[in-house]
Amino acid sequence: MNLEQEIRRRRTFAVIAHPDAGKTTLTEKLLLFGGAIHVAGAVKSNKIRKTATSDFMEIEKQRGISVATSVMGFEYRHRKINILDTPGHQDFAEDTYRTLTAVDSVIVVIDAAKGVEPQTLKLMNVCRMRRTPVIVFINKMDREGQDPFDLLDDVERQLHVNVSPVTWPVGGGAAFKGVYNLREGSLRLFTSQEKQTVAESIRISDLHSDELDRQTGKHAGKLREDLEVVQGVYPPVDTEAYRTGQQAPVFFGSALNNFGVSELLDHFIDIAPAPKSFEAEERTVHPEEPKMSGFVFKIHANMDPNHRDRIAFLRICSGAFRRNVPYFHVRLGKSLKFANPTSFMADKKSVIDEACPGDIVGIYDTGNFKIGDTLTEGEQIRFKGIPSFSPELFRYVENADPIRYKQLAKGLEQLTDEGVAQLFVSQSNGRKIIGTVGALQFDVIRYRLEHEYGASCSYLPMSLYKACWLESDEKSVLDDFKRRKWQFMATDKEGRDVFMAESAHALTASQEKFPGIRFHFTSEF
Ligand code: G4P
Repeated sequence: MNLEQEIRRRRTFAVIAHPDAGKTTLTEKLLLFGGAIHVAGAVKSNKIRKTATSDFMEIEKQRGISVATSVMGFEYRHRKINILDTPGHQDFAEDTYRTLTAVDSVIVVIDAAKGVEPQTLKLMNVCRMRRTPVIVFINKMDREGQDPFDLLDDVERQLHVNVSPVTWPVGGGAAFKGVYNLREGSLRLFTSQEKQTVAESIRISDLHSDELDRQTGKHAGKLREDLEVVQGVYPPVDTEAYRTGQQAPVFFGSALNNFGVSELLDHFIDIAPAPKSFEAEERTVHPEEPKMSGFVFKIHANMDPNHRDRIAFLRICSGAFRRNVPYFHVRLGKSLKFANPTSFMADKKSVIDEACPGDIVGIYDTGNFKIGDTLTEGEQIRFKGIPSFSPELFRYVENADPIRYKQLAKGLEQLTDEGVAQLFVSQSNGRKIIGTVGALQFDVIRYRLEHEYGASCSYLPMSLYKACWLESDEKSVLDDFKRRKWQFMATDKEGRDVFMAESAHALTASQEKFPGIRFHFTSEF
């Protein structure tokens, strides 16, 4: 197969959800259908367990195990599918944001009883920024949930995307009977007994036929009514609108019961986009270009003190990546080659000789990489689209051991390169500020500074609301703002000016007072 054919058959995506909606269960069922695993439980056992929320070491250990499932590749209907795993724990949301830069589409899982939840919203905002195509899977239909029309309204209103149901539930909760596939005109009946297999579907092209009554009993009337409304209100799936992020096909099912998953996977295979082009600062890079390029979107450190290596995850954007071939590390301006690039197939990883656009390669790293780094065959390009997002928690970090100042500085530099947290320096007093999405990272940083760098730190609380990156058409307006707000100004790791708003009120007041300035909650706009 040539490069172009290889690219066309790849589908690289992530499953995202608010914790507990069923992301792990659905991922596992997709792998089961794809034949990548043969028993349920393989992914589940790698999941960060909820019971461990306060024990960050336990979580880090589990994260270590989950490196193997960071990317799960498998073949299905002649397609090469790459599922990128995202951490289930909310404190690692920033990892998830970055993983979203490396995918071509996503599947969003929503709990039928809970509807759209806060984390769903945040993740979808990131998808919308990039116009990532989204498919929605409404899960747990075997439990009492909200009315399906209300759920669709909720998705449209809160996630700002038009919906097009592909399947429709027959009953719900204890009375859940199955789903009707609008695309195929077929009914699939639900049995909760056999979790590893799926009942055959029954083709019912005429909704008024007696067969529908025979199969769904007292639900037939309601189903007919529902489908009439659905067909009148919602347009059919429009592949173009889906691929530009304007329309989301919706599926109903129960991942735990293997129900509605094969409909989802089959439809996904048909419409999900192949590897896309990526914007670099210098130009657009197309996957079929012969020369290799890719960027690092995730770095995973080994917590074992005897093995200090890290794995950098590289998304291939163009050309073929080959083992032992020298590639150009654009930021460092030097050539590197990799003897053991790794690919991840479901539950095992293996050294590969070649990878194509859309694939993710794991590279063993001794400290050369930071998030966002680009590898090429010599061209000076830097991929865009790995922004920092405003952290939600901030603390001053202080050196607790004066003679180990250098170790602390190095540790903070490297840990923030890995993306564990963000580092800012206050412009008024030169003090270092760490910003994170979750409280857990503060413990992770202190522990790792001590064990990996021999440095110790202490934190001082500070109450900040948001970090805002600033933009203005007039330099003088920006300079004026910085002068007046000097005590709230900081610099991020790339040397950009950041306004540290103390409260929502302070931010609104500044926005009103300085209409010539645009306040961004991400570093790239
Ligand atoms: P997450 O990765 O999004 O956090 O969710 P996960 O798949 O772990 O699912 C969260 C809980 O919801 C699990 O139960 C899981 O079994 C359950 N679940 C997932 N899909 C369905 C479904 O279709 N129907 C029903 N009724 N439940 C579902 P748990 O008790 O927290 O974990 P476990 O003991 O089952 O592993």
